[in-house]
Order: sequence, then structure tokens, then C-alpha cells
Amino acid sequence: MIFPDYRPRRLRQDERFRSLVRETRLHPSQFIYPLFVKPGKGVREEVASMPGVFRLSVDQLVKEAKDCLRLGVGSVILFGLPESKDATGSGAYIKNGIVQQAVRELKNKVPELLVVTDVCLCEYTDHGHCGLIVNHQVDNDATLELLAKTALSHAEAGADMVAPSDMMDGRVAEIRATLDESNFSHLPIMAYSVKYASAFYGPFREAADGAPQFGDRKGYQMDPANEREAFREAAMDVEEGADILMVKPAVAYLDIISKLRAEFDHPLAAYHVSGEYAMIKAAAANGWIDGDKVMLETLLAIHRAGADIIITYGAKEAARLLRQGE
Ligand code: PBG
Repeated sequence: MIFPDYRPRRLRQDERFRSLVRETRLHPSQFIYPLFVKPGKGVREEVASMPGVFRLSVDQLVKEAKDCLRLGVGSVILFGLPESKDATGSGAYIKNGIVQQAVRELKNKVPELLVVTDVCLCEYTDHGHCGLIVNHQVDNDATLELLAKTALSHAEAGADMVAPSDMMDGRVAEIRATLDESNFSHLPIMAYSVKYASAFYGPFREAADGAPQFGDRKGYQMDPANEREAFREAAMDVEEGADILMVKPAVAYLDIISKLRAEFDHPLAAYHVSGEYAMIKAAAANGWIDGDKVMLETLLAIHRAGADIIITYGAKEAARLLRQGE
């Protein structure tokens, strides 16, 4: 197939043809919108490094959730900013924790919404690590019980799915067993299976106030240099009962998304993380790029690489743009 017999431009000549042969399409139903919830009433604080993203009190969260549904974004993932933090991250698993309150209210007021909860301790511990500290180290096995407790408390509040992001070994199995014992065998787990120790999480740590107070997360999150290890992590999570696998971040790891897609049958999610979102917003604010177009192109690329589900702070605006483009 060579020129002049084959002319690829024949099928690019106008939008009717382009649309007919388009291989990948974005739809708002593929997006999960991250939401940050904090105590109080009428609170709507914009995150400085993430224009368009707010820390919301529960009443405002309900408004935001309704807005998502109106735009066709049917799923959200919740992150909590607790009233106070302590060494064991108890705010993550108390019955009346901020996420538990938020889930109950969302289930009450916006029952159609699919509510996912992030399961981790870093936003709730005073040291900012994702697990319990024993002898100055993040103790894997001591953390598992607390993660399972957190997941169960979210399930009891009415969450539709739990998403462990801590990267402790064995947490999917522990959470699965705890949910199954407590009549939540129907509740799916979306595992942050392949989560790298990435500098792209910077703005999130400001938004959720979850930066580690000493050291870093390299002892539990993956080394960005590693690809083969991603298969081992994903295989382990499948074995332990994960229903959905995730790669995080997304844009800098499209190769990993693509290779996992080829290897595993499970639905695959990718987290378009805070730093990846902030870079688009910053360049657009300077007039250096067309932010709307770059956002859609970025999300399309994540989907084309093989992600079925995209967790993105751009979900609402992308949904709006997709509607306009119809
Ligand atoms: C909590 C968690 C983090 C993110 C999602 N869950 C921060 C981290 O691991 O340091 C990052 C999300 C983002 O950057 O958008 N463990």
C-alpha cells in the first residue's frame, strides 16, 4: 500500500469521514471526578495550584455532585480533610469521619451517583505517611488492619466502591476478606495497583494536606524507572481480588497503561494526576496553549493508550467540551 495507490488523506478530507473512521472516543461516562471534602458549612476553597478544583464542605459537595450528573459524569472519588490528625490516622476509619459523612449525604441526596472512596491514611496521620509508623518505618502488616477498617467504614456509610491508594503489600486481599465477612461481597475494589513515587502529586498534597512530614514515599510507591515490576503488582492485585486495576500517574506512564491493557482483561483505570492537570492549567493561563484542546487531547491519549476509566480533575470541563463538540 504505497502512494499513489494508497492516499491516507482520502479519509481525512472532512469531518464526516474523520468521524466515520475514528478509532477512539471520549465519553463523560468514562470519567471519575475527584472531590475534596472538609468539615464546615458553605466552604468552597479553591486550590491555588489547581484552578477549578475546590475543597468543599458536605453541603457544597452535594451541589458539585449534582453538577457532575447534569454533565453526564456519573462517578466521583472522595478524598477527606479531617478535623484533626493523629499518629494512627483514626480520622480515616471513625464512623463519623469526614468521608463517611460525605458518603452518607451523597447517598441521601444524589443516590444515582456512583461514589468511590480513596482508602489511605496519609491525609489522616500527623506524620503524613500512608501507613503506621513503627520504629521510624512504615510498617506494612500493622497498616493492613487499619486500611481494611477504613474500607469497611466507607462501605457501611454507603460507598459503591473502595479504592486503596496506600501501596502496602497485601492490602487488596485484606480489604476483600474484611468486606466479604461483613456482607459486602458485592462491593468492588479498584486497586491503585501500579502507583509510582511521582513528583506529579505535588498539587494534590497541597489540596489534601497530605505531604509526608519526613522522608518520602519511595519505600512503598513504585520506582518510576520500572516497567516489569508493574506486571507483578497488577498480577498480585488480580490474585488478591481486585476488580479494576489502576495506573498512576497517566500521561507520563502511557507505555505502562498500554502494556497492562495488552496483558490483563480487567477494566483498567488511569489517574490523570494533580501535577498533570496543573501543568495544562498553568500553560493555558499564560496563553501558551489552548487549555481546552490540550485537555481533550490528553484525555483522549490516555484512553487510546488503553485506559477504560480516567480519573481526572478535568472531568467536568471535558464533559462540557464534549457536549459542545457533538
Ligand atoms: C493518597 C493519594 C495521593 C494521590 C491520590 N491518593 C497522594 C500520594 O500518594 O502522595 C495523588 C493524586 C493526585 O496527585 O492527583 N495516597
